[in-house]
Amino acid sequence: MTASSASPYQRLHVELDARRYPIHVGPGVLDAPDMLVPYLAGRQVMIVTNETVAPLYLERLKRTLSGDDRDVREVILPDGEHTKTLASVERIWDALLAAGFNRRCTLVALGGGVIGDMAGYAAACYQRGVAFVQVPTTLLSQVDSSVGGKTGVNHPRGKNMIGAFWQPRAVLIDTDTLATLPGRELSAGLAEVIKYGLIQDSDFLAWLEARMPALRGLDVEALTDAILRSCAIKAEIVARDETEQGQRALLNLGHTFGHAIEAHQGYGNWLHGEAVGAGMLMAATLSQRLGWLSTEDMARVETLVASAGLPVTVPAAMGVEAFLATMRLDKKNIDARLRLILLSRLGEACVYDETPPNMLEALLVEFPRA
Ligand code: NAD
Ligand code: GLY
Repeated sequence: MTASSASPYQRLHVELDARRYPIHVGPGVLDAPDMLVPYLAGRQVMIVTNETVAPLYLERLKRTLSGDDRDVREVILPDGEHTKTLASVERIWDALLAAGFNRRCTLVALGGGVIGDMAGYAAACYQRGVAFVQVPTTLLSQVDSSVGGKTGVNHPRGKNMIGAFWQPRAVLIDTDTLATLPGRELSAGLAEVIKYGLIQDSDFLAWLEARMPALRGLDVEALTDAILRSCAIKAEIVARDETEQGQRALLNLGHTFGHAIEAHQGYGNWLHGEAVGAGMLMAATLSQRLGWLSTEDMARVETLVASAGLPVTVPAAMGVEAFLATMRLDKKNIDARLRLILLSRLGEACVYDETPPNMLEALLVEFPRA
């Protein structure tokens, strides 16, 4: 990862040799052709967005991308995690074929993680792979899903079970877009921000404890700093382990429990970030029971998650088997062994596959319900 201060925007890079790409962060990126146009593969451009984001930002992005004889089209999908399906991706492919777009086209994902994951997967498969650019508009997508090339859709039996690694050409983050984001979605994004502090950076964790009110109050400087630090940590991990053979799995802290909550509740009823927030608390509790976190550490994690506006309990209706059924399908598992991401201390995580089954079961029984 490298940083540069030469442009008016803050810039990092994901270092993947020939597929190295920039992450630009700043206000007004949507209106800056020089931020966007250099990453287009040719004159055919398909913006993929949804019914909520389109009225807010589509016309501005189209204006910025138009000119120089470019053919800029759009496909506007319905909104929601429940729409993250192959059927939605087929609508993107249909639009590309109807427009007669060829291998030199570029897909531009304008929206949150649902749009980014689907547009990326559509790009990975269309004519065996075309260019795509991420323009993430939620905090969660700006700090996590737009970076690193994980793309895909959900299956009724499990989240993100169908997908591909396909890196974008650039990630262009317009921090102004956060002004229209509902507070609940901002909190969901903060879950992934907290995750970076917990797994890798205790100084960042302490910074988050101090700056949480500013972040929730949409303080632009605090948000920009949080986005930059989060993207820097993610970029570094992805550059070392693009296809999750090892360290990248640490980015899944809380996700094994969280995915079970999302699947059980019906996709979209608990936001992904909310489920990750509660899931991180479950992982921290297990880490404490293994003797790795102190009571004070645990209290800090709980206070931080709560102060971000995230749930600290899990759904009352979820029994042990409801958790385990989804957890057994987790992509991190090897053979029949459940692998969890736990905290060896605050600011350091590990992959652990030796949790005693009775300890896990006790956690799943005893964790507070609401
Ligand atoms: P989302 O894409 O559903 O967006 C949340 C809501 O905010 C939606 O209703 C959306 O239309 C709306 N929205 C988006 N931008 C807005 C704006 N600027 N103003 C107002 N409303 C806006 O959810 P998300 O939290 O962005 O992403 C969650 C998804 O990301 C999940 O499917 C998750 O699996 C995926 N994810 C992927 C990765 C990855 O590495 N690929 C990492 C983390 C999460
Ligand atoms: N959000 C997990 C990853 O990108 O690996």
